[in-house]
Amino acid sequence: MAGRDTRWRTIAAILCAGAAATASCSRESGPGLGEIMTLNQMRHAKLWRAGEAKNWPLAAYELDELQEGFDDVVKFHPTHKDVPLPLSSLVPKIMTEPLSDVRRAVDAKDHESFVVAYDKLTQACNACHQAAQFGFNVVKRPSDDSWFSNQDFQVKGNGVVRVESLIDELRTKARGAAGVDLWVPDILTLKGERVPRDVAMAALVDAVLSLGLMPDGSTEGAGGRTYHYKKQ
Ligand code: HEC
Repeated sequence: MAGRDTRWRTIAAILCAGAAATASCSRESGPGLGEIMTLNQMRHAKLWRAGEAKNWPLAAYELDELQEGFDDVVKFHPTHKDVPLPLSSLVPKIMTEPLSDVRRAVDAKDHESFVVAYDKLTQACNACHQAAQFGFNVVKRPSDDSWFSNQDFQVKGNGVVRVESLIDELRTKARGAAGVDLWVPDILTLKGERVPRDVAMAALVDAVLSLGLMPDGSTEGAGGRTYHYKKQ
């Protein structure tokens, strides 16, 4: 978009006002990734509010802005810190389909499919945070119109959890214990990809056996299940 770089400089100046010149704020070439994401968090929330109000022109606008934010991620941050995969390939791989699903629903002014597509978009945001080793940052459907109501600040339960970290948790808990309880949420990723719980549990089997543990039933909970293990 014409004038976009100028607009960014203004936004960056506002966001960075009063802050010491951090790496991202002092960047000459473009906005920091954290700044782009913060604005995208706002658009993600506004998109939901607009869709709920069936204000389709506004929803379409927020969606355009969201798309431009991700274009900027690819342009200014093709790679990021020690993220193992390039963001320039994660963005198209993870976001293209969910964004076009939301677009289709907005164009059709179809609230029901908007809700489905929005949740899928939100999962895609979280899948990328997982892949980028930023999984502690969890976004969700906004609960109201207050700031940050589309972010989940809880440590446990409804966030996206990596199967790899479950295996670490199992190892830590099994040390010297007669039994282990492991909370396994419904939303999981393995090697950065969303996986269903049975796939995750299959990946856990090796670790379970090598620790000398035996499955000892499980208990269903809200948003996941607690698996019980005992020492053989
Ligand atoms: C290409 C991968 C990727 C996608 C897709 C992605 N993010 Fe991010 N996001 C990141 C990374 C990496 C960071 C950490 C940035 C940093 O190191 O400053 C981040 C940071 C954030 C932050 C923290 C900003 C702050 O400074 O507090 C929020 C909020 C956020 N993302 C929201 C979203 C939302 C909402 C979506 C989906 C609409 C989304 N992200 C999609 C990779 C992604």
